[in-house]
Amino acid sequence: MDDIKLELIDAARKVRDNAYAPYSGFKVGAAIVAEDGSVYVGCNVENASYGLTTCAERNAIASLVAGGYKIPVSIAIAAKDGVFCPPCGACRQVLMEFNPELEIILESQGNGFKLFKLNEILPLSFSTKDIS
Ligand code: THU
Repeated sequence: MDDIKLELIDAARKVRDNAYAPYSGFKVGAAIVAEDGSVYVGCNVENASYGLTTCAERNAIASLVAGGYKIPVSIAIAAKDGVFCPPCGACRQVLMEFNPELEIILESQGNGFKLFKLNEILPLSFSTKDIS
């Protein structure tokens, strides 16, 4: 496992502690890196109006874009120990906007990690780039 993957996993686990998840009790942290090694993080932020909840992954990509970047290279996602937390469908679509080749690192304390490419877990995705 290279250094940047370890750094992302560590950052995802740390920011997970800041998640605001009083309704589900399921805290998620995500750390995403841009091409030059800049790391941004996000956690899930729930709301009493449940549908307004935002996931860790979407908050992380929003932070990367706000930081001035457009191309994420790799994202690590950490949830409950022992559980892998694949990004939900909405987050896959949002991440797809920026890089179909994005590397997804799922970490599960005690069970190691799993690696995927975004286009592997969201095949045949919608994109206006395909519409002429
Ligand atoms: N959640 C995430 O933050 N990321 C995911 O990939 C899946 C789900 C959050 C949303 C909600 O706050 C809680 O986990 C339970 O669904």
